[in-house]
Amino acid sequence: MEKFIVTAALPYANGPIHIGHIAGAYLPADIFVRYQKLKKNDVVFICGSDEHGAAITLRAKKENKSPKEIIDLYHSKNKKSFETLNINFSIYDRTSSKLHHETAQEFFKNLESKNVFNKKTTKQFFDKKHNQFLADRYIQGTCPKCGYNLAYGDQCESCGSALSPTELRNPKSTLSGNTPIIKETTHWYLPMKKNEKWLKQWIEKGILEKKKIHDPKKWKNNVLGQCKSWIDGGLQSRAMTRDLDWGVKVPVEGGEKKVLYVWLDAPIGYISATKKWAKQENKRWEDYWKSPKTKLINFIGKDNIVFHCIIFPIILKEHGEFILPTNVPANEFLNLEGGKISTSRNHAIWVNDFINDFPDKEDVLRYVLCSISPENKDSDFTWKDFQARNNNELVSILGNFVNRVIVLTNKYWDGKVPKRNQTSEEDKIILNKISEFPNKIGESIENYKFREGLYQLIDLARLGNKFLAEQEPWKLYKLDSDRTETVLNICLQIVFSLSVLSEPFLPETSDKICKILNCSFESWNCSKKTNNLKPNHKIEEAKHLFSVISDEKIQEQIDKLN
Ligand code: MF3
Ligand code: ZN
Repeated sequence: MEKFIVTAALPYANGPIHIGHIAGAYLPADIFVRYQKLKKNDVVFICGSDEHGAAITLRAKKENKSPKEIIDLYHSKNKKSFETLNINFSIYDRTSSKLHHETAQEFFKNLESKNVFNKKTTKQFFDKKHNQFLADRYIQGTCPKCGYNLAYGDQCESCGSALSPTELRNPKSTLSGNTPIIKETTHWYLPMKKNEKWLKQWIEKGILEKKKIHDPKKWKNNVLGQCKSWIDGGLQSRAMTRDLDWGVKVPVEGGEKKVLYVWLDAPIGYISATKKWAKQENKRWEDYWKSPKTKLINFIGKDNIVFHCIIFPIILKEHGEFILPTNVPANEFLNLEGGKISTSRNHAIWVNDFINDFPDKEDVLRYVLCSISPENKDSDFTWKDFQARNNNELVSILGNFVNRVIVLTNKYWDGKVPKRNQTSEEDKIILNKISEFPNKIGESIENYKFREGLYQLIDLARLGNKFLAEQEPWKLYKLDSDRTETVLNICLQIVFSLSVLSEPFLPETSDKICKILNCSFESWNCSKKTNNLKPNHKIEEAKHLFSVISDEKIQEQIDKLN
């Protein structure tokens, strides 16, 4: 049995979850976890709200609320969004918890006591009226690259350039609107340069302290590419603290009015959440985070690659005892109808809205988002494509096959699984093929190729449809009842396999097929057998798994976006 910690990036609790989040990290993580559980591996699946950061305090100020009101609202909203899509975290924790603050502070103190940090004094923007230093996000001005006049101190949202606040022309504090003054402040910096050598070895060769601990061939090219260009460009030291009053307090002298920077806060949330979960489950969290046998897999979007592949590993290694990620399967971005998903322009599909407009279609959303998942490059969600994939693939291929087999069994065999009589050469070929699917799909999932895995699942249903079309049991029935029994038995075994192999991707559908077949399954590997359904086993009536989505329904959604 293998042991896994699977994490999905902690979303900021300052807004609702949209399909870009789901396709980027949470759905692939959930598919991976469901699969590993069916393989009988030991998996803890960690997520939760990131409740700190300037974006939250900024939003609170704008809406005249306290940060706590904002995070409480979105924590429960987002938790529910994930639940409705059956994204099944072991725990959905929050970084405002006491345990998390203690854990993050322990990390800071541990590193501080080992003299890992350098203290440096620099000049930063300060808002005199509000008597506070300004986080990058609190400064707006004109982008030096493109001239956009509402660029933030850390990034220009118009041209996408990464900026530092002092580069902005005509900087203004977003708190008071005044021009900020420059003032000196002292922070704890993490020197990164001295880590370049081992990081390169570890990322590119999978080797740490002479031990091979991961297979770089399994790392995605987009991830390796980003890491390489960061390391080759020379790693700059980074401030690990911020002048803010909302966050985890810096627990040493001189840390008053300062909090830990997000990368000494949020990823440690993975650890504190595991601690909490372990306590509830009567397990030892160290068996996960401090056992070299455990595989740590971080699912994230591409904007978080550097932090998970460089900064967080440095922190973990400096602390000592902790394992490093085995893989960081980051996705690229999902666009919407040809444009960037944007929260501020409300160009997004929110999970809660989707479920209201399409009740019971959570698996359809999972299906479409997985089929177009931005695994290697940015991809595009369009409503027309959503409709086409539902109607032409889920309804016509998967749903149709299952339905035909169940109807035929009820009609000709009184809802009882017929026995398999003599099998022909072509039956043997098809049975052989069926038994190969679990390994094929499993391999795709293990290599983070979820689209490929899903296509194979549909291929299995296609295979079933083709077999039905060739054998025509509805005609055969009158001529050769023995042969019809065999054909139908094989088709039913395919339906059973579909129920197992669809579970990671389409858990509701898997469940529905099980109910129709009046059976359950224990493990992924049972679908390698082709005699799971025994002769005479009674099944239920047919029920449609999917339904056609009309042009009107799709047009409504397109209009809503415009
Ligand atoms: N909340 C941050 C973001 O969405 C960080 C997420 S990754 C984590 O970018 F490791 F910090 F959780
Ligand atoms: Zn710009």
